[in-house]
Amino acid sequence: MKLGRLNHIGVATPTIADSIAHYRDTMGATSICEPFSLPEQGVTVCFVDTPTHSGLNGTQIELIEPLGPDSAINNFLEKNPLGGQHHVCFEVPDIAAAREEFEGQGKRILGPTRIGAHGTPIFFLHPKDMQGMLTEIMETPKGDH
Ligand code: CO
Repeated sequence: MKLGRLNHIGVATPTIADSIAHYRDTMGATSICEPFSLPEQGVTVCFVDTPTHSGLNGTQIELIEPLGPDSAINNFLEKNPLGGQHHVCFEVPDIAAAREEFEGQGKRILGPTRIGAHGTPIFFLHPKDMQGMLTEIMETPKGDH
């Protein structure tokens, strides 16, 4: 396992428009993408960029709003009505190798490796095996270094 960049922190929100206003007006974010829906995952997402000094892409905030009554985010929002930190996402150079290594360590992987919101392969690890944090592993996007 080779730990890569902290790609994003997933933040659940009941209302993505309110969260965008918060990051723009209260936090001073200047680079916020248009929200887009991922119906097969039951969510609408929006990325807020944080800047870096290096010119490389900074860690993002991934705002996640439920889409439909069966969204996996609905449970989280029932327990956390204001929303809040939902998962962290680390990059790895090779998603298949990372999956094999986690499996070899007996970590529970939630579902198949699939294409995530960045268009790259991802999988999730059970929070009880990951220091209490729902952890997303994502292959470093091509051309991102
Ligand atoms: Co994510």
